[in-house]
Amino acid sequence: MEEKTIVIKYEEYSSYDELPEQERELVLAAVEARGGAYAPYSHYRVGAAVRLDDGQIVKGSNQENAAYPSGLCAERTAMFAASAQHPGRKLRAIAIVCGAGEEPQEKPGSPCGACRQVMAQYERESGAKMRILLSGRSKVLAFTGVDSLMPLVFDDL
Ligand code: THU
Repeated sequence: MEEKTIVIKYEEYSSYDELPEQERELVLAAVEARGGAYAPYSHYRVGAAVRLDDGQIVKGSNQENAAYPSGLCAERTAMFAASAQHPGRKLRAIAIVCGAGEEPQEKPGSPCGACRQVMAQYERESGAKMRILLSGRSKVLAFTGVDSLMPLVFDDL
């Protein structure tokens, strides 16, 4: 038996303003996307914005439904919209904001396992590591590569 360690590296910024211009733009697109959240049950609103390899931004927000499992997270709404509307384009980055209030919450939220799995697959398709920005108003965590969020991801297909 050999004991192994997985190390996860990420950057922490103290506000959106500290981010490089293109990444700040993506976070602000996620904030805007959050305005489209439909969350009458949880009242927790999430916005996501995906950057494509040609620079375009595709937005998504969480969409709930009375038949609860029928809803979808903001991240998957954005990624599926990006893939559906821009087939063949690569997904390079995703920014996520969330919270129950009018403004996004101070601390960054973190995507669920299902969204991480979907990110992992688009990342593999794209052939390059995806940039992931978990964005709160007073803290942004920036990861390069979905393996940072989901080590040992299922990718055996
Ligand atoms: N939600 C997301 O949009 N993204 C996540 O990664 C986790 C949760 C949504 C689903 C539901 O509409 C609400 O947040 C509360 O769970």
